[in-house]
Amino acid sequence: MDILGELRQRFRTALAGITAEPEPLLEMIRPAAEPKFGDYQANFAMSLAKQLGRPPREVAADIAARTPLDDLCQQVEVAGPGFINLRLRDDRLTGTLAAVLSDPFLGVPRPATPRTYVIDFSSPNVAKPMHVGHIRSTVIGDALCRLLRFRGDHVVSDNHLGDWGTQFGMIIYGYKHFLRPDAYAAQPVAELSRLYRLVHSLLGYHELLAELPVLEKAAADRAAAATRLAEQPSSSDKAEAKKQAAAAQKAARQAEEALKTLAEAREKRAKVVADPAQVALAVEHAAIGQAVLEEVVRLHAGDAENLGLWREFMPHCLREIHAIYERLGVAFDEELGESFYHNQLSDVVADLESRGLTRESDGAVCVFLEGFDAPMIVRKRDGAFLYATTDLATIRYRIERWKPDAILYVVDHRQAEHFDKLFAAARLWGYGGAALHHIAFGTVLGKDGKPYKTRSGDTVGLESLIDEGVRKALAVVEENDNRKPDGAEFTADQRAEIAETVGIAALKYADLSQNRTSDYEFSYEKMLALDGNTAAYMQYSYARVRGIFRKAGIDRGALLAGIAGPDASGAHVRSPIVCGQSAERALALALARFPEAIAESLADYRPNQLTVYLYDLTRKFSTFFEACPVLRAESDELRQSRLLLCELTGRVVEKGLELLGIRVVDKM
Ligand code: ARG
Repeated sequence: MDILGELRQRFRTALAGITAEPEPLLEMIRPAAEPKFGDYQANFAMSLAKQLGRPPREVAADIAARTPLDDLCQQVEVAGPGFINLRLRDDRLTGTLAAVLSDPFLGVPRPATPRTYVIDFSSPNVAKPMHVGHIRSTVIGDALCRLLRFRGDHVVSDNHLGDWGTQFGMIIYGYKHFLRPDAYAAQPVAELSRLYRLVHSLLGYHELLAELPVLEKAAADRAAAATRLAEQPSSSDKAEAKKQAAAAQKAARQAEEALKTLAEAREKRAKVVADPAQVALAVEHAAIGQAVLEEVVRLHAGDAENLGLWREFMPHCLREIHAIYERLGVAFDEELGESFYHNQLSDVVADLESRGLTRESDGAVCVFLEGFDAPMIVRKRDGAFLYATTDLATIRYRIERWKPDAILYVVDHRQAEHFDKLFAAARLWGYGGAALHHIAFGTVLGKDGKPYKTRSGDTVGLESLIDEGVRKALAVVEENDNRKPDGAEFTADQRAEIAETVGIAALKYADLSQNRTSDYEFSYEKMLALDGNTAAYMQYSYARVRGIFRKAGIDRGALLAGIAGPDASGAHVRSPIVCGQSAERALALALARFPEAIAESLADYRPNQLTVYLYDLTRKFSTFFEACPVLRAESDELRQSRLLLCELTGRVVEKGLELLGIRVVDKM
């Protein structure tokens, strides 16, 4: 049913006799760049011709002649230096769509052998509020779960909570020194957040004080180096002089950077110092850095008081993050956080030791890995375990429990080195059976090109981000409603409900539509635009399709009931869909390509491929809708066919958005 897959299959057979490695060549069969080149293009003849030492056009013609395509393509044409342009038969296209009408999977083929995936995503450090940085892992991970499940694979989603780290030392310290019992009794989550932020800022103050002299020295050194190079007499040798100038320029740039970093740190200090109460507190708690670490050590050692506090805090922390997940429509099969693995860690180290995989260095237990400068430390000199040790325990547990084919880690690109080492260590340890992938993503930036912060320089809380998105969506919904030719149609409650869906969709889609490995600039205006590749535009397109049926009072069930299904051989005698007009045909082709979009999105775990597809589809729909009257089509047959194209568009858009974790609205 997947057309591209079928084309590749046909060419595979033809290529098998000619080359030992047909697969990379088959990858070069792609959708045509422009409609004038047909629907698909096979661009492999040029590479193959090189291998064979023959003229590419001749090779293209030869392969085209050997490949049975008559039942699939109405036109196969060799063009340019050796492209094979393929145009599908219309009956093939409409037949495919007729089959899709009765297929809950909309043409996406079922896997012969489903695979098992564990997906580690979201995984925030609890005890501090979730922030803008968590949105990417959460929505990309959730989309990947949905896509893989839809394709027919088995997925275990696991939220690997950071519930055992330093941040608990911080709130325990905060609780012991700064608690406001009334506030805690009334609103525990808010009070814990306050304690976290307070301790965080005190720690920051001391860090800043320690850092300033270092930054001052660095700036002075850089400036001196730049001056030295600038004053150096330039060489009489031209090439040498050029090198000198480049070095001087580089030094000047570095000096400028260092100065900027210093200025930023000074500015931060000025802000902190402006609050005398805060300074007094920081002075009073001069040893807070060490003290927080000691609270963590006590917690890990099972100290009754700290463990008791941890048990008391955890439900509050969980309640807060679960409320956010609920709003986002994200759920997990498992939430096995770092604490879950705590009592397995000494065994992990003992096991690594017993297999001779560790060496001691400076009192620490290390795994040395080929290709890495620094070893992976699995136990510190003071006996403490590390993030990496927990991750090794987690791999072992997951592999033993679920026997996955692959484990995906949807985590910030800044942890790339951690995962490179972790995966190398896991393979060494004998857990290389499952494929281990770091699904890395870039940073969310503000308008200034730096990581997105509030105006006062704080990280943006995820909850306030959602609230603001929904608030802005409400304005869009209201404006749109007020502009309706027959007057506004929604009550205030309806508007609020639509705004919640549209606002959250906008946030998610803005993220998912980015190439996940790039950074992107956060903008409420862009994400809520009613035109362009946005959720609002997709939702609007969907509502428009639904509106056609609603306005004409057409029952979708009845529309479909009258259609003959495939006969016993699976063939459709006659498809109820026709595509005589180019806009109809373009829409039909786009609809038939949904399975390709799913495959494409999963090939390298990039949900943005699906958004590219949906945007293209909705634009094709728009063109179709302008060019082809639906309810006033010339004949009943044409009217039915066009209604079916609308129906399929609605279904594909709804399903596509659902796979991105985005809900649709019937009216907007
Ligand atoms: N809690 C970590 C953080 O916030 C992310 C954990 C990712 N998953 C993992 N298995 N290491 O940075």
